[in-house]
Amino acid sequence: MNTDARRERFAPGRERRLTYVVRRMPLHAETERLKIEALRARHAPLLFPVIADPRLYTYVPERPPKTVAALVQRYAELNRGAPVGSSETWLNWVVRLRSEPVWIGTLQATVFPTRIAYIGYVVSAMYWSRGFATEGCNWLVRHLFDQVGASEIRASVDTRNEASWRLLDRLGFVRKGEHPLELHGRPAVDYHYSLSRRRAP
Ligand SMILES: CC(C)(COP(=O)(O)OP(=O)(O)OC[C@H]1O[C@@H](n2cnc3c(N)ncnc32)[C@H](O)[C@@H]1OP(=O)(O)O)[C@@H](O)C(=O)NCCC(=O)NCCS
Repeated sequence: MNTDARRERFAPGRERRLTYVVRRMPLHAETERLKIEALRARHAPLLFPVIADPRLYTYVPERPPKTVAALVQRYAELNRGAPVGSSETWLNWVVRLRSEPVWIGTLQATVFPTRIAYIGYVVSAMYWSRGFATEGCNWLVRHLFDQVGASEIRASVDTRNEASWRLLDRLGFVRKGEHPLELHGRPAVDYHYSLSRRRAP
């Protein structure tokens, strides 16, 4: 989960209602070229070749899973949801092509009772630069605003991760500032981005 998301603090009383709303949501969605499904542990073997690719981790703090079993465990944890008392709601999806049964990535959001959502997204390196992240994240943004009831969506991006910040620019996010941090033991800088519901396209 997004580290910035973990820094959020909430009004705990609103958590139950949000969780209730999210649990009633459909588990499948489609865009022009993509099928989007709620993530389950059974997706791990299908996604492993994508998610184990070290190229995905150049600008993010996570590390690739070493085995399918490790990814099964990770997805099972995500599927169980945020720890009791954390006030977070974890939403995770897997993305595949509509034209053929090829799994190409994941989408995620961590939502707080403040209705602020933090997003993350991954597309298989084999499918970069074909607009799939733009298409998937367009769905994600609409879903978070229209179905989940988010009031603001935030994302943090390494300043060197040009594809990611271009994606956020394209989606209408506003760059709010730069923040130094450490990535894989070296100094780095993140852009912080925000999209409020009233500014969303
Ligand atoms: C970031 C990521 C999801 C983008 O996926 P993608 O499917 O290639 O993105 P899209 O094809 O929709 O392109 C999005 C924008 O990035 C640009 N772009 C794509 N690849 C690029 C590259 N290698 N260098 C610079 N810009 C690039 C596109 O032109 C587009 O910008 P535009 O709308 O102004 O033309 C993908 O690179 C990825 O999974 N990276 C590893 C995980 C990661 O870093 N996730 C984000 C963490 S914040």
